[in-house]
Amino acid sequence: CVLVLCWFYIFPVYRLPRDKEIVEEVLRQGEDWQRNQTGIDLYRKLLTDCCDPQRMFAVTKENSPMGKVLWYDGEFYHSHTVNNETYSLFVQDNPLQLPLKKCAVVGNGGILRHSKCGQHIDRADFIMRCNLPPLSKEYVDDVGTRTHLVTANPSIIEKRFQNLLWSRKEFVDSMKVYGSSYIYMPAFSMKPGTDPSLRAYYALADSSSNLTMLFANPEFLRTVGKFWKARGVHAKRLSTGLFLVSLALGLCEEVTAYGFWPFSVGLDEQPISHHYYDNILPYKWFHAMPEEFVQLWHLHKSGTLRMKVGSCP
Ligand code: CDP
Repeated sequence: CVLVLCWFYIFPVYRLPRDKEIVEEVLRQGEDWQRNQTGIDLYRKLLTDCCDPQRMFAVTKENSPMGKVLWYDGEFYHSHTVNNETYSLFVQDNPLQLPLKKCAVVGNGGILRHSKCGQHIDRADFIMRCNLPPLSKEYVDDVGTRTHLVTANPSIIEKRFQNLLWSRKEFVDSMKVYGSSYIYMPAFSMKPGTDPSLRAYYALADSSSNLTMLFANPEFLRTVGKFWKARGVHAKRLSTGLFLVSLALGLCEEVTAYGFWPFSVGLDEQPISHHYYDNILPYKWFHAMPEEFVQLWHLHKSGTLRMKVGSCP
């Protein structure tokens, strides 16, 4: 018994605050936010040292030459050796004009519904979105219209577009809403995701689409995962949103995050849906979104990152 007590004294168990406590804490802080250049510089340095987002966020001809072994970050012992076919699909080098100035990272949280944050978001210099989200008329006031980079999980290609084995027209047409942005796909994270990602590449290339495909570099995803694990985020895999916030902290002069609120009640303690467009919940043990939120909220309080959780005036 004494041994157990000593154990808890040396290694105190970290308890994640309950949803209600988080809501209270956020309400206490209110809309206050003070930019802190030292915090911004510190995080950019930490992320550059661990993960080198500038050079490594995408698979490029420069960081992945022919013959390079790309180890899948989402599973053990699977790799892809860059060959003639895949090498030709990679961009030469990081195509982004750096540094990016004001960036908006838009999560898909239901907190965005009726937020009227669309104009705020659209005012950013560089706008990142997750998982090909809907930007139809009914959502424009809340989420805006512009996009510079949007992630696409291979599972979406499978579920929404029948793996692109039949018609590619529906996919190509539905991508038009993202204008001439980058589509960022984790093609080398899970083995079954590679083929759908390559098919998405060809579907866009064959239709002379304005979008540019960027494959997420599995080495970057792995190092970002480790970075947050060391800071207490224990999940099988980070959420897409946290990957993008990490990228933005490494590349942008100022970052505002919208739509990050993985709780079932809003700030008015009324129930809200998981997404701004539906209420389909994620697999319970896959992500640790509340833990991620706590980390992001620390960054908000320290002036490193701005979290917009209420509505936009
Ligand atoms: O693919 P994943 O489940 O990670 O994401 P999603 O449901 O498409 O939402 C995009 C991102 O928004 C997530 O990765 C989270 O970082 C964030 N999100 C949130 O913070 N709260 C929610 N209720 C829903 C999403």
